[in-house]
Amino acid sequence: MSESGIDGKVVAITGASSGIGEATALLLAGRGARLVLGARRTGRLAELTARIEEAGGAAVFLRTDVTRAEDLRALVALAVERFGRLDVLVSNAGVGTVSPLDDLRVEEWDRMVDVNVKGLLHGIGAALPVFRAQGAGHFVTTASTAAYTVVPAMAVYAGTKYAVRAICEGLRKEADGSLRVTTVSPGVTDTDFAEASTNPEVRARITEMRDRVAIAPEAIARAIAFAVEQPADVDVNEIVVRPTAQH
Ligand SMILES: NC(=O)c1ccc[n+]([C@@H]2O[C@H](COP(=O)([O-])OP(=O)(O)OC[C@H]3O[C@@H](n4cnc5c(N)ncnc54)[C@H](OP(=O)(O)O)[C@@H]3O)[C@@H](O)[C@H]2O)c1
Repeated sequence: MSESGIDGKVVAITGASSGIGEATALLLAGRGARLVLGARRTGRLAELTARIEEAGGAAVFLRTDVTRAEDLRALVALAVERFGRLDVLVSNAGVGTVSPLDDLRVEEWDRMVDVNVKGLLHGIGAALPVFRAQGAGHFVTTASTAAYTVVPAMAVYAGTKYAVRAICEGLRKEADGSLRVTTVSPGVTDTDFAEASTNPEVRARITEMRDRVAIAPEAIARAIAFAVEQPADVDVNEIVVRPTAQH
């Protein structure tokens, strides 16, 4: 394992089956990282793993539901078992079933909290002991521009992403100089994410905005790679990447 750079690092990614997670896996694998891929859609993970291996890279995958703490422990254990260590955990899994509070879509609020907040905590809980034992490790978390600003229909989603930022900042302050903690906050990005809302008007508005201004998921992957490749004594804490056309 090199102290800086990407080549040889063992990187676990949640939400690796599509969008930003998939783009990040491909970019880091292309630069020599060994990947441990987690998500629920194992068919997509198997295809991605095969694609990485065909290009000469190394990857394994495991069905991972981030709402289950034991799934994160198994994902981290897989990294250690196959590759001997874990250098980076990219907590990227997230859902954005956005809607106005008046819709009272309480189950969707629960889901966003479970995946976006508890899912992150489950990853921290699984990786922190391994990072402590190694004396090094890097938490990279996909937050959002909704972690910095709240707009109508995004109250709960933004609440989860504000929480993500707060948890990561607390983690950084408790890291005692040995762990790195990075949040990468995308603006509108061209993934399936925008289609999650079950409110037809909100969904139409968000997909229209995506189709008009979105940046490619590779732009977010590059920001993640930038944080990962820094020398061990350089901790990139927060990166916000939004379309130039996004307010
Ligand atoms: N696209 C945007 O405009 C945008 C903007 C700001 C922030 N973000 C953030 O970017 C991250 C990635 O989203 P994306 O844009 O790439 O959308 P995406 O293509 O829909 O990806 C979401 C990923 O999360 C995974 N996921 C959802 N629920 C999960 C669960 N319970 N357990 C494990 N994995 C789960 C999905 O995999 P499975 O369904 O296979 O489990 C999928 O791989 C999210 O955290 C999102 O909040 C996106």
